[in-house]
Amino acid sequence: MTAPKKLFVKTYGCQMNVYDSERMAAAMGADGYESTDRAEDADMILLNTCHIREKAAEKVYSELGRLRPLKTAKPGLKIGVAGCVAQAEGEEIMRRQPLVDLVVGPQAYHRLPAMARRVDAGEKALDTEFPEEDKFEHLPRGPKARRAPAAFLTVQEGCDKFCAFCVVPYTRGAEVSRPAERILAEARDLVERGVREITLLGQNVNAYHGAAEGGPWTLARLIRALAEIDGLDRIRFTTSHPNDMDDDLIAAHGEVEKLMPYLHLPVQAGSDKVLKAMNRKHTAESYLRLIERIRAARPDIAMSGDFIVGFPGETEADFQDTLALCREVRYAQAYSFRYSARPGTPAAGRTLVPEAEAADRLARLQALLSEHQAEFQASMVGRRLPVLLEKPGREPGQLVGRSPYLQSVFLEAPEALTGEIVTAEILKAAPNSLAGRLV
Ligand code: SAH
Ligand code: SF4
Ligand code: F3S
Repeated sequence: MTAPKKLFVKTYGCQMNVYDSERMAAAMGADGYESTDRAEDADMILLNTCHIREKAAEKVYSELGRLRPLKTAKPGLKIGVAGCVAQAEGEEIMRRQPLVDLVVGPQAYHRLPAMARRVDAGEKALDTEFPEEDKFEHLPRGPKARRAPAAFLTVQEGCDKFCAFCVVPYTRGAEVSRPAERILAEARDLVERGVREITLLGQNVNAYHGAAEGGPWTLARLIRALAEIDGLDRIRFTTSHPNDMDDDLIAAHGEVEKLMPYLHLPVQAGSDKVLKAMNRKHTAESYLRLIERIRAARPDIAMSGDFIVGFPGETEADFQDTLALCREVRYAQAYSFRYSARPGTPAAGRTLVPEAEAADRLARLQALLSEHQAEFQASMVGRRLPVLLEKPGREPGQLVGRSPYLQSVFLEAPEALTGEIVTAEILKAAPNSLAGRLV
């Protein structure tokens, strides 16, 4: 018997890429590939890439450069590029980097094993189509192996919002929701493998409208159905658009105990002028009123957000509006980025805010956001929180898990408690984690 071939997948970008990488590994597993976490051992290397900002996309070309010696040492090594850079620049990658054998866009992953066989036969393979079929339906399930206690599950993909700065509608295509029954079946399967927390993923997850008997379901309806699954204890979802937070989804935050009190709801900017130029189709005020309604349904909810600073046309006064919005919301956590012009997007040709100014605004925003995050972290000290223990911590005898608010909590606990929800008393807060003890 020949030794199984080995697949190394390197994942960049968002959680959906993490999920997709798992599914690609499962699809290749059915074709005789074993996963490895060492690139040097691999017979096939797949880069699952992100195109969201210029820096993210550049990483692909530098990583490909680093792989050249491996390919020289092992000419049979196959190198593939998947994900959003593959979708956006597939043909260019093939031209610029002759060492790439295969390029596969996010909607064509079910075709990966067949493409790999073509590469085996000496061809190059490129597929960046948006086929009609559900790519996940065609991906085989992995063996009934145990899984980590927290898992991602993609329910919706693509985006029809066309924010002026964003590549996602082009790289992931139009909004498509998976049928509810298939999601429920996948969730049950995950729970059988030891999963206790599921994060539902979508680029625009709350626009979910998956086919179901009696008409399409909303995300709220899907969450309520998932909450019925015994053994599934925690449900999260990401990422939402403010305009798709319907009343039932807001109500679910107050009614569904398994739905965690943490919501990532990007706003991008606090100035109505900038929001309009971004084509966000909401105002700062409507966003703030929405958060009020969500907090009325679930008072202890922690908010998380995304921001872009230095969007074309943003003045210092516009930027002050962003700071003011942050002061009002007091995010428990937030991601902020300097605007990066992306080819093919509506904002791409607009006049940029000078680099130094944008960098200075980003630093000031991040200082404020860190202050709020530190306050939120500090407010946990002395509290008792349920923690889902996920894996070994930094030190021997330690495990790390997640609080309801998605904070990492480190505590001393026997390894056998991995996968359990325990109560922890929080003793110390750091900017990105908490330390506690079992009670
Ligand atoms: N679907 C999600 C995530 C989009 S990408 C959503 O709608 O929020 C994640 C974040 O990257 C965005 O929220 C935005 O803050 C940031 N981002 C997207 N395009 C960008 C660009 N061109 N420059 C800088 N940041 C960008
Ligand atoms: Fe991009 Fe806007 Fe769609 Fe989010 S909602 S994926 S930021 S276009
Ligand atoms: Fe990046 Fe594509 Fe996700 S551009 S953020 S990997 S959807």
